[in-house]
Amino acid sequence: MIKVGIVGCGRIAEAHLNALSTLKAKFTVTAIFDVNKDRAKHLSDKFGVNVKQNLENLLNDTEINLISVTVPDGLHYEVVKKTLQSGKNVLVEKPVALSLGQAEELIHIANDNNLFFGVVLQKRLFNVFRKIKEIVVRGEIGEVFLVLFQQIWYRDDNYFSSSWHGKKTMDGGLILNQSIHNIDLIDWIVGPIEKVTAYGGKVAKKKIEMEDTVASLLKIPHGVGNIALTISAYPSNYGDLFEIFGDKGKIVIGTGSFSKLTSNKFKGDVTELKNSTLSGYGHKLVYEEVYDKIINGKSVDIDVNNVYHSYKVAFGIRESLETGKEVIIGGK
Ligand SMILES: NC(=O)c1ccc[n+]([C@@H]2O[C@H](COP(=O)([O-])OP(=O)(O)OC[C@H]3O[C@@H](n4cnc5c(N)ncnc54)[C@H](O)[C@@H]3O)[C@@H](O)[C@H]2O)c1
Repeated sequence: MIKVGIVGCGRIAEAHLNALSTLKAKFTVTAIFDVNKDRAKHLSDKFGVNVKQNLENLLNDTEINLISVTVPDGLHYEVVKKTLQSGKNVLVEKPVALSLGQAEELIHIANDNNLFFGVVLQKRLFNVFRKIKEIVVRGEIGEVFLVLFQQIWYRDDNYFSSSWHGKKTMDGGLILNQSIHNIDLIDWIVGPIEKVTAYGGKVAKKKIEMEDTVASLLKIPHGVGNIALTISAYPSNYGDLFEIFGDKGKIVIGTGSFSKLTSNKFKGDVTELKNSTLSGYGHKLVYEEVYDKIINGKSVDIDVNNVYHSYKVAFGIRESLETGKEVIIGGK
């Protein structure tokens, strides 16, 4: 049994608690904490869990052996560092931290102390993306020479009126907050991405402190790619579109108004994949992985050591955006 503490009682913490409530044979939520007492009380009443009055009380609770960190992006580094230093395993929401240096420091602390440090990148665990990765890795579409990706989303003014969205010190922005799941999938499926060059910034939404639209060129092992990301597609989300071209076949998959799934390689799998989830929460799958790692010692895809390369890509895109220069990412 893994005893869990949760730091941050906002929107995503509820997804964690919902997932954990379906895994009662494996997890118990010992306590939760939020600087906002009303938010902590709301979740405490809803899920029947105890509330701690401060972070130290939560970290000093010797029963707890996993802390889930669900605070705003800009606080991940500080809370994860304190948690690892208290000797507890961590599951942090994406992004790991707001700089590569901070992420590397946290990874070292976890590895040096033999602690599990997982990142919520749930899309890696969705059946459809696991299947696509298998098809690509098995060489069924040949060598991938071209990958195209579009993430055409809309975030309205109300979204940016929250206490932290769009604020440079608190929000990972378009690249690290909204797009990290998809950048990670591309790197994981057709990477490792070796080099990036990016353009964009505050193209359409001038009022927020972060970039709202980015295009990036990618060098992948046997080819090239490009990605286009935005949160300014008025009046609503269009969706995500992945197009992977190999010299023996292709895979095209999209959500929302790009909704489609075609490949000459899916064969009998098409129906199963069409009905599978492409976006949204998948925290139950994430916690099942956490259990496999902590209790059964299994290597898991959401281990920070396995997602580190895609963070290098994301920070490389940010660096190229700021410097206007190509950034070498390097292999795994
Ligand atoms: N995996 C996903 O698909 C997914 C989806 C949405 C959000 N997220 C991530 O989850 C995190 C939280 O997002 P959210 O939408 O729940 O935000 P939110 O604003 O709804 O919740 C954040 C909570 O953290 C609390 N908090 C702030 N500072 C704190 C501190 N020092 N100690 C304890 N609590 C503190 C706030 O009071 C708030 O209740 C973000 O990092 C976000 O990027 C991930």
